[in-house]
Amino acid sequence: MSDRIVSGQSEPEESYLELSLRPQFLQQYIGQDKVKENLEIFIKAAKLRGETLDHVLLYGPPGLGKTTLASIVANEMGVNIRTTSGPAIERPGDLAAVLTALEPGDVLFIDEIHRLQRSIEEVLYPAMEDFCLDIIIGKGSQARSVRLDLPPFTLVGATTRMGLLSSPLRDRFGVLSRLEYYNEEQLSQIVYRTADILQVGIDEGAGREIARRSRGTPRIANRLLRRVRDFAQVFNKESISEELAVEALERLQVDRLGLDHIDHKLLVGIIEKFKGGPVGLDTIAATIGEESHTIEDVYEPYLLQIGFLQRTPRGRMVTEQVYKHFQMEVPKP
Ligand SMILES: Nc1ncnc2c1ncn2[C@@H]1O[C@H](COP(=O)(O)OP(=O)(O)OP(=O)(O)O)[C@@H](O)[C@H]1O
Ligand SMILES: [Mg+2]
Repeated sequence: MSDRIVSGQSEPEESYLELSLRPQFLQQYIGQDKVKENLEIFIKAAKLRGETLDHVLLYGPPGLGKTTLASIVANEMGVNIRTTSGPAIERPGDLAAVLTALEPGDVLFIDEIHRLQRSIEEVLYPAMEDFCLDIIIGKGSQARSVRLDLPPFTLVGATTRMGLLSSPLRDRFGVLSRLEYYNEEQLSQIVYRTADILQVGIDEGAGREIARRSRGTPRIANRLLRRVRDFAQVFNKESISEELAVEALERLQVDRLGLDHIDHKLLVGIIEKFKGGPVGLDTIAATIGEESHTIEDVYEPYLLQIGFLQRTPRGRMVTEQVYKHFQMEVPKP
């Protein structure tokens, strides 16, 4: 699954490559205009008042720029960012250690915040609300609770699964920002920007072609660009033309809409075995040999987004567009 070229999730060797491609300030962050405008206002207001920014929760599918935005928030506020993640904090003490090491005004970024354990969340509540930490010293009848003051800080949480966040935690964020899939125009701009940083020439048509196949996701756009650049290098081309981009993307088996063989298997499977649906998620999972939650979390969101799949009370259904995309005859109602 992770070796899917069109996966929104980050590959292990990708994280350091991404570092150099990350925009540093809001100005350079392409798209997500609503989120950006709001953040800009809140950041300005906080700075004018000389206060820390309210806690920010960023949510949306993988690869849309949550981590990037978290470091932009710190840069714009002119403070340091400390980074950790839900699964990395195993005990309340781990979180206490992170919190007490903060400097006034710092941004604490907790990635995958929906994976925090409940007992740890409870340490976070007073920290978020009153900038203090209640710790228990001693055991049994000797135990007593001590309240420690923390420096004011901004928590930036990121999650791909808003639904899994407990409501008391969600309610403690002042700013909730939902990231949306990017349109072709925005993705083209991201591709040109990345090409610039990688110092590779690219035609307008090639940029658009990569953008179109990137499933609304900057991470995929950057990845496709890197792979297409490999083709250019091997073919001894100085810059990436539209023709070269198309050929490379065809060879990578990413179609005009950014669908790969797994999407094809899923969609064509529903058409051939279930007359286009509706069919239950578990049944689909069994037919294509994948876990249902993988389909739900990884494969399905983009297919729903582009209107290729529909969720109905009786299961998943393909839409007319799928038949057209695969040049199949649309069944008569
Ligand atoms: N708005 C943007 N403008 C330019 N580049 C972007 C933008 N958003 C994301 N990127 C690029 O996409 C890559 C992935 O973004 P990022 O790591 O922030 O995504 P994420 O939402 O944190 O993903 P995950 O859910 O996997 O943690 C970054 O390297 C960055 O270069
Ligand atoms: Mg991230």
